[in-house]
Amino acid sequence: MPDLSGKVAIVTGAGRGIGREHALALAGVGARVVVNDLGASVAGEGADTAPSQQVVEEIKAAGGKAVANDDNVADFAGAERLVQQAVDAFGRLDILVNNAGILRDRMLVNMEEHEWDAVIDVHLKGHFAPTRHAAAHWRERSKAGEEVRGRVINTSSPSGVFGNVGQANYGAAKAGIAGFTLIAAQELGRYGVTVNCLAPNARTRMTEQAFGELPVETDDFDPIDPANNSPIVVALCADEAQEITGQVFFVYGGAVNVLRGWEAGELFSSESGWDPDALLDELLARLPEGAAPAGMQVSMQQAGGRSTRTL
Ligand SMILES: NC(=O)c1ccc[n+]([C@@H]2O[C@H](COP(=O)([O-])OP(=O)(O)OC[C@H]3O[C@@H](n4cnc5c(N)ncnc54)[C@H](O)[C@@H]3O)[C@@H](O)[C@H]2O)c1
Repeated sequence: MPDLSGKVAIVTGAGRGIGREHALALAGVGARVVVNDLGASVAGEGADTAPSQQVVEEIKAAGGKAVANDDNVADFAGAERLVQQAVDAFGRLDILVNNAGILRDRMLVNMEEHEWDAVIDVHLKGHFAPTRHAAAHWRERSKAGEEVRGRVINTSSPSGVFGNVGQANYGAAKAGIAGFTLIAAQELGRYGVTVNCLAPNARTRMTEQAFGELPVETDDFDPIDPANNSPIVVALCADEAQEITGQVFFVYGGAVNVLRGWEAGELFSSESGWDPDALLDELLARLPEGAAPAGMQVSMQQAGGRSTRTL
């Protein structure tokens, strides 16, 4: 087990589901944890301080140290308060797990503006804002001469990296988070900060809303237990993982797959530039079956998992 004692972590959306497991796992290996959760509904409505408080009590009952925070991660000033709270309570910040999220699924043709805006806001801005303020904290320490070993773990989704019908808002935000991970990794490496990303899978209220109630496995190992997503978080937070950055990890049960994102593929090259006719001929010749996304379920199977929708 990596020993994270001495480290301070923020986990957003940690009042329930996957985030709760990350918070418990990090506290379990010695990190002091700021448990952030707005206490919103799956659709992002309302607020409740009970979920974050409960997780803080769980951590304390197990002998760990934690404080609750109920700021909205998509609020720029709220995210600054969140980072400041870690520094005020525990003197520093080492780990930021961006996990908070909501769903407002709808087919693209029917999607309302507020359904688009709310989901983009919580996920995409809700990753940017805490990361931005954490990065300023790490830059300051790095410039003061400290050898920083900062960690950001973002949360994408199979929906974002493979594409899922009915989730144009959510999938676009989650694809954006994968792209944000690449850029943040390149920008923050100079301050000693690694930035990685999960594409998790779990039985939570979120997947139950999207796919209906999911069965609880009674065998020894439940592949969609939310806790399955946390070992990779703990591993990436170890000092030894300092050179692993900018990666997106698909997690399903015991499968952790380092995904390959956009990378160079089939090259159509013309030294004198293309005219559309010639390029179309070449496209049709080289792609006789056409080209289309495989979809989330097939792609998840290739990555070592399966869709909760098919359980
Ligand atoms: N469950 C899965 O299979 C799955 C798959 C792919 C991605 N994810 C992602 O994993 C993350 C966790 O999802 P989950 O399944 O545990 O869902 P969940 O609904 O159980 O937990 C999400 C938590 O985020 C909190 N939250 C929502 N908006 C917030 C805000 N603005 N500020 C602070 N907290 C806020 C909620 O109150 C909730 O406690 C999400 O980003 C989700 O999109 C989940």
